[in-house]
Amino acid sequence: MSGRIPKQFIDDLLARVDIVEIIDQYVPLKKAGANHKACCPFHDEKSPSFNVSQTKQFYHCFGCGANGSAIGFLIDFDHMHFVDAVEYLANRAGMQVPREAIAPITQSQQALYDTLSACTSYYTAQLKNAPDAISYLQQRGISGETAREFKLGYAPAGWHNLEESLEASASTLHDAGMLVRNDSGRTHDRFRERIMYPIRDRRGRAIGFGGRIIGSGEPKYLNSPETILFQKGRELYGLYELRRARKSKSGHIVVVEGYMDVIALAEHGLRNAVATLGTATNTDQVHTLFRETDEIIFCFDGDNAGRQAAWRALNAALPCLKSGRIARFLFLPDGEDPDSIVNQQGQSGFEALATDAIEAADFLFAQLREQSGMESGTPGASHRARLAELGKPLVQALPPGVYRSLVEQQLSELVGTQIFEQKTSPAAPARARRSTANLGAPSPVRKALAAIFEKPGIVLEIDPELYNFADSIPGAKLLMEVITHVECNPDTTVSHLLEHFRDTPEADKLRQIASDGMLESATSAIDAPIELLSQAITQLNRESERLQFRELPLDKAPSQMTDDEKAELRRRFSKLQDKSG
Ligand code: UTP
Ligand code: MN
Repeated sequence: MSGRIPKQFIDDLLARVDIVEIIDQYVPLKKAGANHKACCPFHDEKSPSFNVSQTKQFYHCFGCGANGSAIGFLIDFDHMHFVDAVEYLANRAGMQVPREAIAPITQSQQALYDTLSACTSYYTAQLKNAPDAISYLQQRGISGETAREFKLGYAPAGWHNLEESLEASASTLHDAGMLVRNDSGRTHDRFRERIMYPIRDRRGRAIGFGGRIIGSGEPKYLNSPETILFQKGRELYGLYELRRARKSKSGHIVVVEGYMDVIALAEHGLRNAVATLGTATNTDQVHTLFRETDEIIFCFDGDNAGRQAAWRALNAALPCLKSGRIARFLFLPDGEDPDSIVNQQGQSGFEALATDAIEAADFLFAQLREQSGMESGTPGASHRARLAELGKPLVQALPPGVYRSLVEQQLSELVGTQIFEQKTSPAAPARARRSTANLGAPSPVRKALAAIFEKPGIVLEIDPELYNFADSIPGAKLLMEVITHVECNPDTTVSHLLEHFRDTPEADKLRQIASDGMLESATSAIDAPIELLSQAITQLNRESERLQFRELPLDKAPSQMTDDEKAELRRRFSKLQDKSG
């Protein structure tokens, strides 16, 4: 397997390709002033608001907000995967894509994998000698074949089975989550008298376990704690088995709640289910699943808790819903779960039910209508306004594109007035004015970033001593990272920067600031980036002083202060006076 593509290579690549040439192959561009223009390929329009800047190596549509680098364009327009887009551009530029060596697994990690694998073998062997466990599984309709495929096992009674039967040390077993350590430091087996479900990672390695009591009792399931190898929120139970069993990527994936749901569906030939491990679905998980399929069906109980869980799943899914992808929601009859349904109604019964799943946008609107009180009585203007208020940020969580445009349109119709930017004309100046009015004055961090995006080189024109503001200012850390990146790579451009921060939590925010910057330079709001940057840095330093000032021991009377505290207080007072003078 090959490793990651080094960030430096992406920088070099973007410096060699020309975004205008690349996009022009798909969408013929016309030169217009500093930019190249066309009708936007991401939404319907009659006059061109799609702009490509050669100097910035960046595209932006004033209509629908689509934006990005040459790589981003290939991903969003041509649906290429990131790696393919890079390969394609490298090929055009006559460059070879290098790969970083994959960080080897450390010895201690390997020891944990080995231990968990030994535990799995131990539990599966024990199941053969556990008639009660076997008959429980049989009674639930699980065949030997399915039990073997999911490597189901049994943890027998006893407190020190693992230490006595395996070669692993107590400390390794403990690090793997298999032992519990009590206050006096003694350890014992975590799982006793339970049916064991190994949780496997994408490559089939056991990273943790769930253990079910036979019959009834509390807790019904016991799960491995989080360990170096096992982070609940990152895993999906059954994903490894699904990937092995599914021959092609066609067809939807069903997300269910329980171990037994995945297994029962598999028993009935439905090899397309995964379960979240008793936690709310998160965006990472949705993202992982959309690499396997274009359609996800989230399956929940029909009760209140189920609706709430579905709402959270919808929120997690929104950022992943590019055009062409589908998320649907299936609510089961009261008291049923996929396991009980497939056992009563078989494969076709469950599949028939799944066809009733409602589409994400329909679920979104149904919930929004309810939350805004539109459903009760005659909805008035205040209900509609509430609907707009609630709905707008959710719709804006969708990635730009046709799907989002349609959902925006639908929300506007429901509200009864246009609440999103009009998409038909290049309304750049109007939009720029409105967006600053909405946000109030832009924060100094935002100003600094906008200035840097306009002309990264200016970072080097400011005394480095001045870049030392408090980390506690929101966004200050990110700004420092950007500044450091430019300091280390003086020739960097906007698209380099964006690529550098791709896959970080701040990527979207940076893209947004870069697009806004394109608007502002089109309306010449950023005339002097260096001035803007130094202004913003001054503001940040003042803010830092103010924050430090707040930490001063002002609640103490001077007579109670130590000499050091008094000296510090004097020093900071005089500094503050200098700044404001
Ligand atoms: P369910 O109670 O729906 O599980 O909880 P299930 O798979 O249908 O259980 P059966 O059919 O009674 O055997 C859903 C999931 O929540 C987690 C487990 O991951 C379970 O599969 N859970 C539930 C726990 O971690 N602990 C519990 O005590 C209960
Ligand atoms: Mn169940």
